[in-house]
Amino acid sequence: MPSPTTDPTGLEQARTKMTEAGVAPAAVETFTRFYHLLQAGETGLIREDDVDPLVDIPNRADLRISDADAADALGRTAMLKLNGGLGTSMGMDQAKSLLPVREAPDGTEVLTFLDIIVGQVRAARQATGARLPLLFMNSFRTRDDSLAALERYPDIAVDGLPVDFLQNREPKLLADDLTPVTWEQDPDLEWCPPGHGDLYPALHSSGVVVALLEAGFRYMCVSNSDNLGATPDATIAGWFAASGAPYAAELCRKTPADVKGGQLVVRKADGRIVQRETAQTHPDDVAASLDATRHPFFHTNNLWFDLEALAAELERTGGVLELPLIRNDKTVDPADPASPAVVQIESAMGAAVAVFEGATAIEVERSRFLPVKTTNDLLVLRSDVYDLTADYRLEAQAPAPLVDLDKDHYKLIDGFTRRFAAGAPSLRDADSLTVRGDWTFGSGVRAEGKATLSGEGGTVPDGATIGAEGF
Ligand code: UTP
Repeated sequence: MPSPTTDPTGLEQARTKMTEAGVAPAAVETFTRFYHLLQAGETGLIREDDVDPLVDIPNRADLRISDADAADALGRTAMLKLNGGLGTSMGMDQAKSLLPVREAPDGTEVLTFLDIIVGQVRAARQATGARLPLLFMNSFRTRDDSLAALERYPDIAVDGLPVDFLQNREPKLLADDLTPVTWEQDPDLEWCPPGHGDLYPALHSSGVVVALLEAGFRYMCVSNSDNLGATPDATIAGWFAASGAPYAAELCRKTPADVKGGQLVVRKADGRIVQRETAQTHPDDVAASLDATRHPFFHTNNLWFDLEALAAELERTGGVLELPLIRNDKTVDPADPASPAVVQIESAMGAAVAVFEGATAIEVERSRFLPVKTTNDLLVLRSDVYDLTADYRLEAQAPAPLVDLDKDHYKLIDGFTRRFAAGAPSLRDADSLTVRGDWTFGSGVRAEGKATLSGEGGTVPDGATIGAEGF
């Protein structure tokens, strides 16, 4: 114990702040473990020499699962969507899933990610008869808005299960001395959600896994709420149930455009599959990690859990899984680059692959991975590259073009929305769309080939076609 005259350390201050704010003990202990790793300068680097590529995995397209087995497994599966992130990369401080994406199949309204997720689950329930509970992991910043938006779907809760559970929050730490930051202008900004690795402590304190098991569920499919490709899938459920594995990750085959993102590798020391994030790759190993002939897959963050194995692991560890630390350097006010530099302690859900003995992976079609990380992604999703089917799947009508919008004007959601208020341009015939300058798009605009806009900017008139030389 420190003597009464000693100032509390940064860790003690942070622990006290969390405890006084009512943060669950499993989250305080998880934070403490990471804080020690941070102090020790832990980088979590995974060197290429110490791993083998993960190559030999089944492909969903080749699976032969009987309809009965697939239906049985889906009937025992719950869907969980990660919805605690704030979309800070797009200048947001609320859930990305509340952004409008597409017109409804009947053309009556504009649907958000949340509406489409609900539509996908309802459609799968109708088609298969599965109960399919849908749950969300929210954070203190996303909960109220998201639950309000979900109120119009009273049927999504099944068997008395909750619609959501709350993830934890933790103090942002001053980069200078790792003490919790004070920000009187907006004390909410003193806190952040600890990344989706917080799933485990949050599940532990919420009791959700036990509740699902008691309601007769055995499997859980977890995915990002900004990935509308992660629809309920009876074939994968059937495969996962038959595999007997405690944990499985969905991987996609890389294309030349996939130049970043996490991957799974096999640790030579013990043969375990481990996750390697970009931040855990040594600069000398970057080229090898990106080499698609060596590491052919990337990680989608669509995961499958055997709820019994998960419950056992949460019980064994008290919800404190030994995941690698991700150090996230930001400013206390994300919208103000001049505000004090802070460190956010984070971790990744998919890193738990190393914790589950017998964890496995499966190759899935690209259609199961449609993430929205940037406004570039959002523009493609809103465009005619995709059709929204009657069962709320986004079906690609053409290869997705490479969209590269001017960061100064389109990176943040407000600027993006203003400049595309008349709707997304048609991108079906575009290989790419590059925009430099401040352009506001009229309605019915088409992009063709290597479409490029440059110069200061202005207005792209209604009905214009943009080609390599502009319109
Ligand atoms: P991202 O990595 O896209 O992060 O999250 P984000 O927080 O949404 O966006 P940025 O990085 O601030 O721009 C992937 C998924 O994980 C969820 C997000 O809601 C998204 O569905 N997530 C992320 C959580 O549920 N909790 C977290 O603490 C972080």
